[in-house]
Amino acid sequence: MSKPKLLVARRLFPELLEPLRAHYELDLHNSDTALEPAALRARLQGCWGMLGSGSERVDAELLAACPALRAVALITVGYNNLDVPACRARGLQLSHAPGVLTETTAEFGLSLLLATARRVGEGERYVRAGHWQGWSIDQFAGAPVCGTVLGIVGMGRIGGVIARRAALGLDMQVRYFNRQPVADCEFAQWRPLPELLAEADHLMVVVPYSAATHHLIGAAELAQMKPSATLINIARGGVVDDRALAAALRAGRLAAAGLDVFEGEPAVAPELLACENALLTPHIASSTLPTRQAMVQCAVDNLLAWARGEPGPTPIPA
Ligand code: DGY
Repeated sequence: MSKPKLLVARRLFPELLEPLRAHYELDLHNSDTALEPAALRARLQGCWGMLGSGSERVDAELLAACPALRAVALITVGYNNLDVPACRARGLQLSHAPGVLTETTAEFGLSLLLATARRVGEGERYVRAGHWQGWSIDQFAGAPVCGTVLGIVGMGRIGGVIARRAALGLDMQVRYFNRQPVADCEFAQWRPLPELLAEADHLMVVVPYSAATHHLIGAAELAQMKPSATLINIARGGVVDDRALAAALRAGRLAAAGLDVFEGEPAVAPELLACENALLTPHIASSTLPTRQAMVQCAVDNLLAWARGEPGPTPIPA
């Protein structure tokens, strides 16, 4: 009997995919460039499943054009690229990768905070460009981090680890905004968003992207922050209005921003590229080799469970 066809929509670690070959006929899109909607639709013809990332858009239109598709396993924790209700309406099995990247992503968020507040990117560019003539009293004077107030927007797994490390490791006073206060949140106190914005010396955005969080931090919210504050986005492009942010950075209404995610990435708004006080990284918050391997393994484990007729270990929540 022929095996169900599985599109692997990204270049991943080939050795981790090997166990899938016993159950699936693999079609490898062995590239770091995500398939555009038309190419994805064409490539998914006759496929039973897709092993994908956060880049491949699966919506009602694609599902209608790919009626054989029964399952999508993502290597990412975020799944805003899936129209989950449309997938469910067609009975697709769906999985993502929660848990395995929590510590790594939290660690990167704090790295980006420290580097942004202390102007590491600017200083590094300055030295590398050969501009450095010697030590001076206020050169690249940054903002303090230890002992200051950290505001976290989104108190999920990653937000929780950032809160604990910031409180215990950096003596920060941690506040957070979530639609609902989280029970037993040991290291952070809930605040309504306007209060959080006004109180934070540093704001860390970790909330998942959805229609409800689109431009959650826009011009009006940025205007409520301290001009000395920094803003860090490790969530998703689109949660922060990048152009409004660039305007605030240019006008000195915000001291600095550290961004790992961008609206329409990999494109980055030219206004942001022009801001010296923006530290920009290419969506690498989860990128350590062990974590990226664990993310792939998580998708593989779900696909192997589905092949055995069992529920996968990490379904996308109902
Ligand atoms: C995720 O898992 O959603 C991350 O953004 C991928 O790095």
